[in-house]
Amino acid sequence: MNEIYHIPAMLRETIQGLNIQPDGLYVDVTFGGGGHSRAILDQLSEQGKLYSFDQDLDTLQNVMHQDNWQFVHSNFRYLRNFMDYYGVKQIDGLLADLGVSFHHFDCPERGFSFRFSAPLDMRMNQTGGKTAADILNTYSEEDLARVLYIYGELKNSRQIAKKIVKARGQKAIERTEELVEVVMGKTPSVPLQGGKDGQELDIPAGAKKDLARLFQALRIEVNDEMGALREMLLAAKDLLKPGGRIVILTYHSLEDRMVKNFLRSGNLEGKIEKDFYGNILSPFKVIEKGLTASEEEVERNPRARSAKLRVAEKIV
Ligand SMILES: C[S@@+](CC[C@H](N)C(=O)[O-])C[C@H]1O[C@@H](n2cnc3c(N)ncnc32)[C@H](O)[C@@H]1O
Repeated sequence: MNEIYHIPAMLRETIQGLNIQPDGLYVDVTFGGGGHSRAILDQLSEQGKLYSFDQDLDTLQNVMHQDNWQFVHSNFRYLRNFMDYYGVKQIDGLLADLGVSFHHFDCPERGFSFRFSAPLDMRMNQTGGKTAADILNTYSEEDLARVLYIYGELKNSRQIAKKIVKARGQKAIERTEELVEVVMGKTPSVPLQGGKDGQELDIPAGAKKDLARLFQALRIEVNDEMGALREMLLAAKDLLKPGGRIVILTYHSLEDRMVKNFLRSGNLEGKIEKDFYGNILSPFKVIEKGLTASEEEVERNPRARSAKLRVAEKIV
C-alpha cells in the first residue's frame, strides 16, 4: 500500500498531554493510521495496556501485533460498553483525535471529497447506516437547511436546501458531481463532469470553500459525529481515574465548543457550578486550552492547520 493513511497532528504535544504512566491503561478512541497509538505504546511497559477504537474497517490495515494492545472495531460512543466487556473499571488516559483521516479524503470512492467523482456515501463505518445520498434525497427542506447551517455554518443554507429539493424532484442526487452541479446551479440529469469513480472534478476555485463546508456538514450528519462525541465524553469522565488525562484534538468550531465547555464544567451544557466561595466545581482541571500546531508543523502537514488540542486532568 503506497498511500499515506494519515499523518498524526501535534504528536509530541498530544503525548505530553497524556502524561503517560508506563504501567497505565490508555484508550485511543480514534486509531486511524495508528500514529498516535504507536507513540503511546512506545511509552508503555509490558504491564501497560492500550485499547484503540475505530469504526472504519479500512484501519485494519494499520493494526499492530503486541500483547499490550487491543483493537476495538466500534464507534467510540460504545466506549463504556467495551470497557465493561474487557473488565476495565478505570483508565489513566484517553485520546480522541476527532473527525476523518487523510485516507477518507484520499479514497475517492468513499465520497468524502468534492474533488472526485464518487457515490455520495461518507460513512466512516461502511457496514451500515444512512449515506449522504440518503440524507440528500429524504430529508425535508427544513432539515437539510438546519444540517447545512449548523454543521457547515453555511449562511445560504436555505437557498442550497431549496436547490437540492428542487433537483431531486427530477432525479435523485447520488454522486458528488451531481451535488456540486446542483449547488452551483446546473442540472444533475446529465453529469457535466465526472461519472467515473475517482475521476478528478474541475471545480472553480471560488466554489471550493462553500463546497468544503457543505461536504463537512453532510459528513457530520451521516456519522452523527456530535451525538457520538457527547456519549464518549460522558463515558470518559466516569472512566478516568483521579490524575488521569483526557486529550482531545478538534477540527471545527462546533466540536471544539462542546469539548471546551465539557472540560471546563464536566457537563455537556457547559454549566459552571461554583461553591460558596466562588470556586469552580468541576471534575476536571484544564491543562491545555486550545493549543494549535506550530508553523513548522503546518508547513510540513497543512492539514494540521485546523487542529486544536485540549487537555484536562480528572481531579475527583
Ligand atoms: C483524525 S483520524 C485519527 C488519526 C490517528 N490519530 C492517527 O494517528 O492516525 C480519526 C479516525 O477516527 C475514526 N473515527 C471518527 N469518529 C469515530 C467514532 N465515533 N467512533 C470510532 N472511530 C471514529 C475515523 O474513522 C478515523 O480513522
